Amino acid sequence: MKRLLVMNGPNLGLLGTREPEVYGRLTLADIGRTLDALAASLGVELEHFQSDHEGALVERVHLAARTGVAGAVVNAAAYTHTSVALRDAYLGTGLPFVEIHVSNVFAREEFRHKSLLADVSMGVVVGFGPVGYELALRGLVARLG
Ligand code: DQA
Repeated sequence: MKRLLVMNGPNLGLLGTREPEVYGRLTLADIGRTLDALAASLGVELEHFQSDHEGALVERVHLAARTGVAGAVVNAAAYTHTSVALRDAYLGTGLPFVEIHVSNVFAREEFRHKSLLADVSMGVVVGFGPVGYELALRGLVARLG
C-alpha cells in the first residue's frame, strides 16, 4: 500500500485555539483523523508529522524519500514564505507534494502571497479551511495514480 506523508509546519499544533476566525476550531488531531479515514477509503496509508523547527522538517523530507514514501501533503505554514532549505529538500529528494493552506493567503498580508514551494509542488490548495487537507490528499492520490 502506498504511504504518504502529511507534513505540518510551525504553529499548526495550535490549530483549534489559534486565531479561530482565520483557521477554524478543528485541531490538527481532528484533521489527522479525518485524513486517516479518507486515506483508508483511497487505499493509501498516512504518516503524520508536525514540527516548529525548520531543520526537523527538512530531515523529515529526507527520511520520507529514503523510506519509500510516495508523496506528501504539506502545510509548511510560515516556512512556506521563507524557507529555501525546505524548498531545496523537496527539490533535492524529488518527493512529490501538494501544498495546502487553511486560510486564503492571497487575501492576507503581502508577505504571505509569496511561496517558495508552490512552483515546485504538484498543486496548491488555498483558502478552503481544514477541508483543504482532504482536497490536497485527493489531488495527490489522483496525480500519483
Ligand atoms: C498557513 C498560512 C501561513 O501564512 C501561516 O504562516 C500559517 C498557516 C495556513 O494554513 O493558512 O501558519 O499556512
